Amino acid sequence: MKNINDVLHYHDRTKHRPSRYAASLGYMDWATQPDPYRRYLGAPLIPLTHSETTPPYHLLFQKDILPTAPLCIESLSQLLRYSLGLAAIKNHGGSSWALRCNASSGNLQPTECYVIVPATEEISSHATLSHYAPREHALELLHTYKTPLEGNGFYIVLSSILWREAWKYGERCWRYCQLDAGHAYGAIKAAASMLGWKCEIVSVNSDEIAMLCGLDQRERFDPYENESPDMLIRIGNSGSLPSAVTIPYPANTLSPSHHEWPILTVIDEATQGVYPKIEPLSTTRSIPPPSKNAGEIILKRRSAQMMDGSGITMEQFRTLLDSSLFCTEASDVHFILFVHRVERLDKGLYAFIRNMDDLEKLKKSMDQNFVWEDCHNGLYLLQKGDYRGAAQMISCNQEIAKDGAFSFGMLCNFASSLEKYGAIGYKNLYHQCGMIGQMLYLEATSLGLSATGIGCFLDDEFHALLGIQNQQFQSLYHFTIGRAIIDTRISTQQPYRH
Ligand SMILES: Cc1cc2nc3c(=O)[nH]c(=O)nc-3n(C[C@H](O)[C@H](O)[C@H](O)COP(=O)(O)O)c2cc1C
Repeated sequence: MKNINDVLHYHDRTKHRPSRYAASLGYMDWATQPDPYRRYLGAPLIPLTHSETTPPYHLLFQKDILPTAPLCIESLSQLLRYSLGLAAIKNHGGSSWALRCNASSGNLQPTECYVIVPATEEISSHATLSHYAPREHALELLHTYKTPLEGNGFYIVLSSILWREAWKYGERCWRYCQLDAGHAYGAIKAAASMLGWKCEIVSVNSDEIAMLCGLDQRERFDPYENESPDMLIRIGNSGSLPSAVTIPYPANTLSPSHHEWPILTVIDEATQGVYPKIEPLSTTRSIPPPSKNAGEIILKRRSAQMMDGSGITMEQFRTLLDSSLFCTEASDVHFILFVHRVERLDKGLYAFIRNMDDLEKLKKSMDQNFVWEDCHNGLYLLQKGDYRGAAQMISCNQEIAKDGAFSFGMLCNFASSLEKYGAIGYKNLYHQCGMIGQMLYLEATSLGLSATGIGCFLDDEFHALLGIQNQQFQSLYHFTIGRAIIDTRISTQQPYRH
């Protein structure tokens, strides 16, 4: 019960309210800005390869259409390059920064990635554990196993360095780290699909994940910069997990000094445990029209910083909503949409019910005056009206929420997830939202549109607008989709040109 209370306390305490945002430093302390690249001092570096040949994007999410690639250094390189690798280098006013394939709150990139692969030519004649170094697009070899891995699949571990996000966002940052981990999973799943590979999140204890990659060896990390295990992903068929490892390499130091946010330790510890096994959504998706190649879309995906206020077609709108159903692992998330400009659809407040099992429960939880007019395939009109002002206000006054064609909140099965899975259910809900977010970014890009994840929103203002009075459902992530205005002052270069 203590862990559940810790979650309830953290969730309430880190809500943004009109009169008071969740606690943070309130300014950017540039002197302590964390290094976005983790490295392990002394670990051998194995360069990965580059390949530009990727399949058409529209084939990615079709069942069993793309051939299954063998696991080799080229396929592993492609997986990492197009999921967590650098996508672009931006330059403006004498400064330059890298963006990655996976979206990340404030581009602070808290998610780290480890891979456990069987003997692979050009990596090792033994099974190995490595850390992915995105700046170099290389593997840092951390451990060589004495016994072979069972099966022909492999594992990926995602972990979070909370400090990277805490530096800017203070107490609310744990939420962003989990959303980012969900984005990273979504990015890996999309890149794996290019190779005909399927991903599965393994239901395993956080402690075990930590021991697999030596994250439990706290002495190797600055105490403020250690990594919290997020999830273990299995790709292909693997047998039992490899044993715990002892790694001799210390982690680099990311900041010279740190600010303490004790609540982060509380929520992080409370949400350790056995990762939930989620009952997947069952969906089928018709083949969308031919698109560009997947690699191009993945590298082109960018968050819009301004939207032009133009509309989209009904077909685009439906394609976007339906694409979220491809995230079958995310069965506890529904969309409450502010539709501003979608052809042939009245402006207003809508619900997109991603899991019909929840329909009646949602109807009971929300304002009894909503009309729930069935617009087919999970979409319901709740109330007609112009919600541009409300969308902007709820999104911490960000104009992208009103200037997109539509924006929405991801309303999650909050109480029942905590009841079913315990405190770690809270963490999993953010992962579900993040994976949907990454999927929608890609789908929007493939349609020639743009999107932006919105972590900054006024939680209870949104709930109040929906008439939600208890914690059965809570909104954990917001999002907007439309057409971006490109800031031409910022120039773009391709990464890895050397
Ligand atoms: C969880 C999450 C929350 C975000 N919240 C906001 C937000 O509130 N406002 C905003 O303008 N961008 C937001 N973003 C977009 C990030 O700032 C963006 O992903 C990051 O700068 C990297 O840029 P890229 O997406 O173009 O690669 C968010 C992204 C994520 C993943």
